[in-house]
Amino acid sequence: MTVFVATLFLPYTVNFDVPSKSRPASPEATRSQTTDVPAITPGLVPAVSLFTPSAGLVDTPGPIVQTPGATTDHERIFRPHVERPISLRLPSHIKLADAESPAIRDPRTISRADLHSPTWGKTVTWNQPPSRAKEPPPSDILKHADPRITREKATALLQSAQIKISGRRQRARTVSHERRFSEYSYTVEKAQIGNGGLFNAIDAVTDAGILEDKTWVGTLGCPTEALEDHLRANIAEKLENDYDSLAVFASDSDLNGHYEHYCKTILWPVFHYQVPDHPKSKAYEDHSWVYYVKVNEAFADRIAKNYKKGDIIWVHDYHLLLVPGLLRKKIPEAQIGFFLHTAFPSSEIFRCLAVRNNLLEGVLGASMIGFQNEEYGHHFLQTCSRLLNVEATKHGVILEDGRFVHVQTCPIGIDPKSLDAQRKLPEVSEWVRTIAEKYAGKRMIVGRDKLDNIRGVRQKMLSYELFLNKYPQYEDQVVLIQIATSSTEDPELSATVADIVTRINSSHSTLAHQPVVFLKQDIDFAQYLALLTIADCLMISSLREGMNLTSHEFIFCQDGKISNTKCAPLILSEFTGSATVFGKDALLVNPWHYTQCADSIKKALDMPDEERQRRWKAMSDIVGQYNATRWYESFMKALDHAWKEHSIRDSTSVPRLSVSGTTSKYRKANKRLIIIDYEGTLASWGAPTDIILTTPKRSIDVLNDLVEDKKNIVYVMSSRMPEEMERLFSQVSGIGMIAENGAFVQEPCTDDWTELTDLENIKTWKSGVRSILQYYVDRIEGSRIEERHSALVFDYTDAEDVSTAFKQAGECANHINDACRNQHVSAVPIEDGLIISEMDVNKGLAAQMISDKLEEGIVGTEEALPDFLLVIGDSREDEYVFNWAHKLEKANKIKDVVTVTLGARSTEASATLTQGVTGVLSILEKLVKREDPGQMNGSAK
Ligand SMILES: *[C@@H]1O[C@H](CO)[C@@H](O)[C@H](O)[C@H]1NC(C)=O
Ligand SMILES: *[C@@H]1O[C@H](CO)[C@@H](O)[C@H](O)[C@H]1NC(C)=O
Ligand SMILES: *[C@@H]1O[C@H](CO)[C@@H](O)[C@H](O)[C@H]1NC(C)=O
Ligand SMILES: *[C@@H]1O[C@H](CO)[C@@H](O)[C@H](O)[C@H]1NC(C)=O
Repeated sequence: MTVFVATLFLPYTVNFDVPSKSRPASPEATRSQTTDVPAITPGLVPAVSLFTPSAGLVDTPGPIVQTPGATTDHERIFRPHVERPISLRLPSHIKLADAESPAIRDPRTISRADLHSPTWGKTVTWNQPPSRAKEPPPSDILKHADPRITREKATALLQSAQIKISGRRQRARTVSHERRFSEYSYTVEKAQIGNGGLFNAIDAVTDAGILEDKTWVGTLGCPTEALEDHLRANIAEKLENDYDSLAVFASDSDLNGHYEHYCKTILWPVFHYQVPDHPKSKAYEDHSWVYYVKVNEAFADRIAKNYKKGDIIWVHDYHLLLVPGLLRKKIPEAQIGFFLHTAFPSSEIFRCLAVRNNLLEGVLGASMIGFQNEEYGHHFLQTCSRLLNVEATKHGVILEDGRFVHVQTCPIGIDPKSLDAQRKLPEVSEWVRTIAEKYAGKRMIVGRDKLDNIRGVRQKMLSYELFLNKYPQYEDQVVLIQIATSSTEDPELSATVADIVTRINSSHSTLAHQPVVFLKQDIDFAQYLALLTIADCLMISSLREGMNLTSHEFIFCQDGKISNTKCAPLILSEFTGSATVFGKDALLVNPWHYTQCADSIKKALDMPDEERQRRWKAMSDIVGQYNATRWYESFMKALDHAWKEHSIRDSTSVPRLSVSGTTSKYRKANKRLIIIDYEGTLASWGAPTDIILTTPKRSIDVLNDLVEDKKNIVYVMSSRMPEEMERLFSQVSGIGMIAENGAFVQEPCTDDWTELTDLENIKTWKSGVRSILQYYVDRIEGSRIEERHSALVFDYTDAEDVSTAFKQAGECANHINDACRNQHVSAVPIEDGLIISEMDVNKGLAAQMISDKLEEGIVGTEEALPDFLLVIGDSREDEYVFNWAHKLEKANKIKDVVTVTLGARSTEASATLTQGVTGVLSILEKLVKREDPGQMNGSAK
C-alpha cells in the first residue's frame, strides 16, 4: 500500500552540471534577482548561479541591494540568502536519517517551512533549462461582451495569441544554449520552492517508520519543455527509483498559467481576503483557468496510471483543488484525502470566483477534507451549503447521491527532531554570536516576511513607528530587524514601506543607534534560525494566513539551549491559523489596530520573567504536541475512518436483497416488526406538497395482508402530517404510523398520536424562521411556505425561475442554519425546497421509541422485541432507521434484521432493491403469500 502525496512542487528538483565558465553571467541574469523584473520574462535565462560552487557562506560577498533604512554595516551582517545543499556541511556527529546513503549531496534535510516565496523556475543557485513559457495572452481575449466566443473558440484564440507572442519574443534565444542542458548530466537536489512544512512532516513520519511506503507526486518546479523526451524520461525514472517521486510534466506555459496566474493572482488573493471588488484586484474570471484545469488533469492522470487497489491518495493545497474530483471519476473506490494548507475564505468572498462550483465539486471528490482550524472548515461547509445547496452538518457534507464527505480540523506542526538537528549546526551558533555582538545591549524585535499585501509588513512598520512615537524612552533600546523577501511583486507597496522606514530612521535614529533595520533580501537558513534564537520578540502581522510555522520555529528556538535569551514573547496576528493554536498565550493583535500593536510591543518588552516563562511554556507544549507526526496520524486516521464508511455505504457494494433468504427468515420468525417508508417506497414520489393524496390499491392490499398476520407489527413512516396519514391509511386498520419524519407516532390499533417533540418550543423558533422564509418568499415568484406541525417547508416547485430559486434556497438555508444553531433547528435541502425542523427529531428517534415500548411490553402481546425486523426506505431520512436497526442487531437484541434501500444513494442499509416501488410491493407480496400457501389456494381466482 502506497501513500501518494500530491503537491504542486516535488521536494526535489534537478541541477545540470553545466561547467561554470559557460554559464552566461550576463547582467540581465543578475538583474533578474535584484530588480523588479516581472514574474515571467520570456527569453530570460532564469537559472544562473551567481556564486561559484566552491564559494562558502563566509566568503561569499554577493551583490547587496541598497535598501532604505539599512546601512552597509547591517548588510555586512545579514548576507543575502544563498541556499546550498546543507548536508554538505553536516558535521559528522549529527546523524540524519538517511546517513547510510552513500551520496553526500543527499538532498534530504530539513526544508524551510516557507519555501513558497521564490518564483517558479527562478532559482539563482542552479542550472536549469530556460523556460519556454509563452507570455500569457491579453486578458481581453475572453470578450465577455461577445456572445459568439464560446469556450472552445476562446481556447483556440488564446493559443493562437500565444504562438504570435512567443514567435515574436522567443526567436532570439539561442538553440545552442538549450542543447547544453541535454548534453550535461544532472543531479537531483532538494527543492527551493514548494511546501516546506509538508516536506518536513512527511520526512518526519518516514523517518519514524510510521509511513512506510510513500510516493511524492509533483512537478520539478523548473521549466522542462526544453529538455528532450529521453532526458525527461530519464529524470522521471531516476526520481521514481531513487527518490520515491512521480514527476508530473506539464508544458511550461501550462505551469506558468497555472501557478503564476491562476494560483498567485486569483486563488491566493481570494483565499486570503484580498477583496475582489477592490479596483485593483485581478479579473475574477480569468483565461488562466484553462491552465489550472490542465495541470490538475496532468496530476490526476499521473496518479491514476500508478494507482493500485488499496493505495491512499493525499492531495495538498489550493493548487490542486480539482484533483480529488478528477480522480474520483477515474477511480470511484479510491481512498482520497485532501488537505488545505492555506486559509479558506468566508462564503461571501469565495462566491466571487467565477468557477466556484467547479472548485468545490473538485474538492468534494475526496473522502475526507482537512483544514488548519475550525474556522476554515466552517467556512468551507457553509460555502458548500450555500453554493451547492447540499446539506452540511458539523462534520461534513452530504452530497446529493448520499455520499458523506468528512471535514476535519488537523493543524499542521513542525518536526522538533529535525529542527533540533538543524539548529545544532555550528554556523547557527556562529551567527548567534555575530548578531548578538552587533546588537549588544539592544532588544531585538524580529520579522521576516514576504513583502506582499497579505503579510502586513506595512501595518507592522506603522505600528512600530507609533510605538516609537508613543514610547520614546525605548528609542535607543530597541531595534526592529525586518527582513523582506521577494519584493518584486508589488513595487507600490515596496515604495510605501520604504517611505515609512525612511521616516522612522530620520526621526528616531541617533548617530550611535538606528532603531530599524530593513533588509530587502532573504537570509540564509542558519542565519534565520540564529535570529529566531536570539530575538527578544517575534512579530507576525499577517492579515490572513493558514498556519504559520515560523511562530512554531521561533518558540522552539527560544528554549535557551543555544543562547541565553529565553522564552521571548510572540506577537501574533489574530488572523493567522497559528493564533487559533496558541490562543491567549501569544500576544494576539489585530494588525489593523496600530495602537493595540504598539502597546503589544511595549507589553512584550516589559513582560516580567515569570509571565514570559509561563506563556512560553504553554506555547512550547503546544508546539511539541501538535507536531508533524501527530498531524499526519490524525489526518490518516480520519481519512481511514471516512473511507471505510464510504466503502460500506457505497450503493454499488451493497448487495441486492436476497428474496429467498428474506422469506425464509420471515417464515421462521415468531414475531416480526416491519417498518416501511411511504413516499418513494410504497407509492411513487409525488411532490411533497401534493394536495390530493392517494395510496395505490396494490399497496393498500399488501399492507392489509401484512397486518392481518398476528405475528406482524407494521408501521408506515412518512414526512406528511398525522391527519394526512390517517386519510392515506384509513383503509388499513391496525397499522402503526410515523408522521412528519418522526415527530409523531401512532401505535397500531390506537387512535392517539404521541408527540416526540415539544410543540411549545416549536412555536418559538417557528416564528423566527417564518420571518426569514417570508423574506425569500417575497423575492421568489411562485414559492411558498408550507406549515407542518413540527416543521416548516419552503417550497419552490412552482417558482418561475427555478435556478435562481435554487441559489436563493442555498442562501436561505445558510441564513437559518446560522440563526438557529443554538435552538437545534436546521434547514435541509429537499427536492425543490427546504425543510426546516429540529435536528434531533428524526425517524430513528421514533423507531427507538417503538422498540423501547416493545421491550417494555407496552405494544404488542408479549414483553419482547421481535425476532425479525424489516425496514424498507429510500431517502436520507430513512438512514436513521437503518442505523437504529443495525444497532439492535449488533446488540443481539433482534436475531434477523433486514434493511433495504431503493435507488443508488450511498447508504447504511444492508441490501438494495432496484425495481422501485414495484420491487417493494412484489417482495412484500411474496412474503405474505409464501408463508401461508392455504391462503394462496384460497385467494386464487
Ligand atoms: C538612517 O539614519 C542614520 C543615522 O541618522 C543615517 O546614517 C542613515 O544614512 C539613514 N539611512 C537612510 C537610508 O536614511
Ligand atoms: C509565516 O509568517 C512569516 C512572517 O509573516 C512569513 O514570512 C512566512 O512566509 C509565513 N510562513 C508560511 C508557511 O506562510
Ligand atoms: C508528537 O506529539 C505526540 C503527542 O501529541 C507525542 O506523543 C510525540 O512524542 C511527539 N513527537 C515528537 C517527535 O515530538
Ligand atoms: C393448494 O392447492 C393444491 C392444488 O390445487 C393442493 O394440492 C394443496 O394441497 C393445497 N394446499 C392447501 C394448504 O390447501
